[in-house]
Parts: sequence; structure tokens; C-alpha cells
Amino acid sequence: MANSSLLLSTIDPLHPYKGECDLASVIQETKRAWRLLRGSRHWNEIRKELQRSIGFYIPQGPADTAGDVITVPACGLSHVDQLCSALLPWRTGPYQIGSYCIDSEWQSFMKWSRISALLPKREGMRIADVGCSNGYFLFKLSKLEPEIAVGFDPIERCWLQFAFLHKLLGIRNTAFLPMGLLSLTAFPQFFDLVLCMGVLYHQRDHLAAVKQLYDSVRPGGTVVLESLVVNQPEPLKIIAPDRYAKMRNAWTIPSPSSMEDLFHQVGFKDVRLHTFGPLSTTEQRRTPLSPYESLADFLDPSDPSKTVEGHPAPHTAAVVGTKP
Ligand SMILES: C[S@@+](CC[C@H](N)C(=O)[O-])C[C@H]1O[C@@H](n2cnc3c(N)ncnc32)[C@H](O)[C@@H]1O
Repeated sequence: MANSSLLLSTIDPLHPYKGECDLASVIQETKRAWRLLRGSRHWNEIRKELQRSIGFYIPQGPADTAGDVITVPACGLSHVDQLCSALLPWRTGPYQIGSYCIDSEWQSFMKWSRISALLPKREGMRIADVGCSNGYFLFKLSKLEPEIAVGFDPIERCWLQFAFLHKLLGIRNTAFLPMGLLSLTAFPQFFDLVLCMGVLYHQRDHLAAVKQLYDSVRPGGTVVLESLVVNQPEPLKIIAPDRYAKMRNAWTIPSPSSMEDLFHQVGFKDVRLHTFGPLSTTEQRRTPLSPYESLADFLDPSDPSKTVEGHPAPHTAAVVGTKP
């Protein structure tokens, strides 16, 4: 039976796979995240408001996920602006909900145009997006008609934003689990395609993280790992109190070749590295719905090839590999 909780219904599409994953640990992790969210007065109030406002919402027409802006042409809700303001900051997007635009910090279609060219174009895949934020790339991936697409992200705000969008867009076969990368142990050899973008530099142990991605795909499956990188041969280790681009949770910034090495070390074949050059302040910038510091504040104003700390400014790269 479908879940009447807006938030918990994001997990419903996984029910047919109960026998193929470690259900006990999925339940345990979800309950932990649920308790954390309900324990936060701020997020719990927003959860209740979303449940009241859209818990029983029925989409009024098909969503459009083909363009740069993911669009719900008409939604019939009078206070979308208030709901979206309560949910800020919006990191990935943009979205158009009726006449209301969710202008996110990242112009995520720019990343999508780099990454989508690298993906296998088969229908019926099981896909994971690890570090999916509010699900922008999962919604774009729906065009590939996956068997199922699952987003993983441990942050409460991401779960709420996903639940909100998921309800309005009405896209089937797309789920969200409030779990981090290391919880992929619950899905051994489960996926055909795993994307993990913008997450590696938040991991203390890069090799363990890539091994986890490897273990979660079936033989013949593909992993796409995208990250900020420093454009130099060696990765850059950040030792506190030093920071990289003001981030509190960046431990080692990979280099393009270190990402490629990781893929070889864990056993991928057909490893391909793609470098995309410097990240631009057109792609990542402050907006009214993400009103905090953004890339322009993280770069040295007199020399944008450096971060404010004097490190090499971020470039981006992706590595793609197949599991033998
Ligand atoms: C820089 S954002 C990238 C978002 C999106 N994947 C993209 O490429 O635009 C990093 C995301 O990873 C999530 N994240 C952080 N640590 C994570 C972990 N251990 N496992 C999965 N996601 C994580 C954050 O909550 C955030 O949504």
C-alpha cells in the first residue's frame, strides 16, 4: 500500500526490490534520518506544512524534464513561493513551478550537458545518484526510462526538497533514500549505472568511497564519478585549520589523475578521464533562493585562478569506468 507520508513515500518505489537489498539496514538508516528530521524543530515544522499543503496533491499535467529548466507547467497551488522560501537554500536546479522559478545556486544543466554525453543510453537501467541533493539529475535521468532511479543524500533539506518536487512532478520509478555513500553496502551489485558527483572531496577515504561505488554495480555496470579537482598532478590535502574554498568539510581535493588511479585500483576496466576546465561563476552563483556565499566569494578577487586561501581554484573532471 502507498505511504500516506509525503516524505516516506519517496521510498515506496523501492518496495519491489525488498529481496535484493539489505532491507534491515535501509529501514534502520531511514528511521534514523526520520528521527533526526522530526527532532529538528525547523525542519519538522516545514515537513508538517508540506504534508498539509501537498500531501495529497495530484499532478495536473505532465512535467517537462527535457529542457535546462525542469518545469511543472501548472500546479494550482497558491503559495509555492512560501513553500520554496521555507526550503532554501536550493543548491541544484533550476525548476519552474507554474509561474514560480526556483533559481538555484548551481545552473545544473551546465553539469548535465557535460555528464549526459558520457552516460550509457539504455532504457530499463537501475540507476543511483549518490549525493543527489534535491534530485535534479534523477529527474533528468527519467528521460532514459529507468527501471528505477534512486537518489542518496543524508541531508534533511535535500529529502524535503526532493519530496516536494517528486510530488509536483509526478515522476514514477524515482526514489530517495536519506542515506550517505557508505550506506550503499545495502545494495550489493544492484545498479547498472551509478553517478556520484560533487561528493568525493567530502570523503575522508577516497579509495573506500570508490570501492563502495564499484561494489554497488552489477558486472557490466558503469560508474561516473565527477568532482571538483585541482588542476595539478597530485591531489591537495587540506589540513585543519586550513580550508579549501571556505569549505568546512573538504578533506582532500582530488587531481584528475588521482581520480583515474582510484578507478584502476579498484578494478574498473575501460577507464576514461574527462577534464572540463575551471568552474565558472556563471555555473555556481548566489541567488535569492540560495542567498549565501557562493563561488565568487571563494575565489581570490585579485586572482580568480586561486581560492581565497591561495590554493589552485577548482576545476571539474569526471572519470567513467565499467565493472568487468
Ligand atoms: C556539492 S553537492 C553536489 C550535488 C550534486 N550531486 C551536483 O553534482 O550538483 C554535494 C551533495 O552531496 C551530499 N553529500 C555529502 N556527503 C555525502 C555522503 N557521504 N553521501 C552522499 N551524499 C553526500 C550533500 O548533501 C550534497 O547534496
